[in-house]
Amino acid sequence: MHDPIPFLDLVTPHEDMTEELVAVFRDALRTGRFIGGPAVEDFESEFATFCGTRFCVGVGSGTDALRFALIAAGVAPGSIVVTVPNTFIATTEAISQAGAQTHFIDIDEWTYTMDAKKLKEYLETQCVIDSQTGKTIHRRSQRPVSAVIPVHLYGQTADMDPISMLAEHYNLVVIEDACQAHGAMYFSRNDDRWKKAGSLGRAAAFSFYPGKNLGACGEAGAVTTDDEELARKVRVLRDHGQRKKYYHDMEGYNGRLDAIQAGILSVKLRRLPGWNEERRQLARCYNELFSAQERIIIPREPPWSRGVYHLYVIRTQRRDELQAFLAERNITTGLHYPVPLHLQKAYAGTPGLVTSLSVSERTAAEIISLPLFPGMTALQQVRVADALKEFATLCLDKLEKPALANLATRTSWTPGMPNRRARERYHLARD
Ligand SMILES: Cc1ncc(COP(=O)(O)O)c(C=O)c1O
Repeated sequence: MHDPIPFLDLVTPHEDMTEELVAVFRDALRTGRFIGGPAVEDFESEFATFCGTRFCVGVGSGTDALRFALIAAGVAPGSIVVTVPNTFIATTEAISQAGAQTHFIDIDEWTYTMDAKKLKEYLETQCVIDSQTGKTIHRRSQRPVSAVIPVHLYGQTADMDPISMLAEHYNLVVIEDACQAHGAMYFSRNDDRWKKAGSLGRAAAFSFYPGKNLGACGEAGAVTTDDEELARKVRVLRDHGQRKKYYHDMEGYNGRLDAIQAGILSVKLRRLPGWNEERRQLARCYNELFSAQERIIIPREPPWSRGVYHLYVIRTQRRDELQAFLAERNITTGLHYPVPLHLQKAYAGTPGLVTSLSVSERTAAEIISLPLFPGMTALQQVRVADALKEFATLCLDKLEKPALANLATRTSWTPGMPNRRARERYHLARD
């Protein structure tokens, strides 16, 4: 049996910086500064510079960052926030916890990020701009639509220009979910320049969960923004609504970034550009190794994108068999994400299903994330590629043409279908 190939390696990358990381802890012990203080302020200023924004506010997690950004941007309880269903549940948890309701928009088949055409269709056919207030109102529910959260999935930004233009026309706030996209670049045709994830909306949320491209040694997150007032509100929200100790302007949360995590993140931020470049190189290598595999769809990077490959996700019709096949060969893979959010039990009976989400449903059944992490060796990549080739010869080459992308046209949604029935049909089709 071959050595195991892990999905990611959280041990080796820390080895050559152990001394620097331990020094952060020693410093906290020496000064007694565990919450707030210069370590947090320094990291905030370094990460704002990295993202090209005026402000960064450190918080307890990516979920905190999303929730605080929504509240600080003025998303009112009872309003609607639009996002995609193929994301981690934190995106929609934050919407619900801000008191708003989620409406889902389908994704683009090739980038797995929000399809601006579908967003346009939703806004044009289901919403109207109130001539008195300028607010966008969802016709059927009569609720205001207040914000849109594009998710920069797998390390690649959504196509932000058309989304931003729609948001401007319909008076919606754009909050980026950049939790998987530290350092990802987007070429804005509107601004005629490359911009970083985190600087593409009114505010952005980052997670520093340990497995992220920039990961803490525990929980951490941040909001980036150019909006001074929004940054100020997030600072108040993360600290129990207090601007000054024990003077509470409002109720807030315990959502601070602690000083040890901030110090650790500063040490690791210096290495992030190198790690991201390594991830891009590993992705290029995989692309070349898989170039002869007709029935495997590799990640696509449109000309406007320079992704940072938080995950390397391929698509194949026999996904579950492939995962088992690789597991037998000691290769660990992941599924991001196997069940789209509108079909999760947590959302049974919620009225968020107002558009067809067939692309999200279809891709959820076909995607598989392969091992990719800084420090992965060429030998490990070749072993993954060889196993995949063996699987293709045994299982995929027998599949009839036409090409994979055209085969799956099943749609499980019809207008007015409640979530429960859509979910049953989805799971039946999958079993
Ligand atoms: C797309 C996305 N959004 C939000 C989050 C939430 O971040 P955290 O786990 O730090 O709360 C994550 C983290 O997994 C994520 O991947």
